[in-house]
Amino acid sequence: MSFVLPELPFEKKDFKGFISVEGFDYHHGKHHAAYVNNLNALIKDTDFEGLSLEDVVKKADNEKNMGVFNNASQHYNHTFFWNCMKPDGGGVPTGEVAKLIERDFGSFQNFRTEFSAAATKVFGSGWAYLALNKENKLEIMQFSNAGSPFLQNKLALLTIDVWEHAYYIDHRNARPNFINLFWEFVNWEFVNNQLL
Ligand SMILES: [Fe+2]
Repeated sequence: MSFVLPELPFEKKDFKGFISVEGFDYHHGKHHAAYVNNLNALIKDTDFEGLSLEDVVKKADNEKNMGVFNNASQHYNHTFFWNCMKPDGGGVPTGEVAKLIERDFGSFQNFRTEFSAAATKVFGSGWAYLALNKENKLEIMQFSNAGSPFLQNKLALLTIDVWEHAYYIDHRNARPNFINLFWEFVNWEFVNNQLL
């Protein structure tokens, strides 16, 4: 069975200032779609076919099959990223994640500053993630290109895409502006649901 580009879980027009309809059309409709199409072409008639996406990523990583790894992991990352935002999101976190952030970073403001700095400093293309490690402690993680926390047995909670394709249409080269506006749309409900 082939992998399918997921529908965006929201209306594209409702992220004013952060991502425009054109931004989503390219990022989701062209870039994310290309990863899914490439992945399906690469795994056709191989023993990757029929595996879950996570298992494809793990197997490709073990076998150092970078073509499959990059496209599968980017499909995973983008799907996760779309779920991390919603039109009426943002504000301070709620629920369990709010408590964990306060415990491990002192305050939401400190966490936001540290996460934004980590995302800004990813050199070249990549991702910043908030994840929960095996010691039940939150970590801010940086990945180049196509990594993600589950390969290190860490639970992904929140991510932002800092590939240039994520922000060039709406913010040109200004990655920090894109990161700053992300906080107005974070879907804390989705983040909390990862902890269930
Ligand atoms: Fe992207």
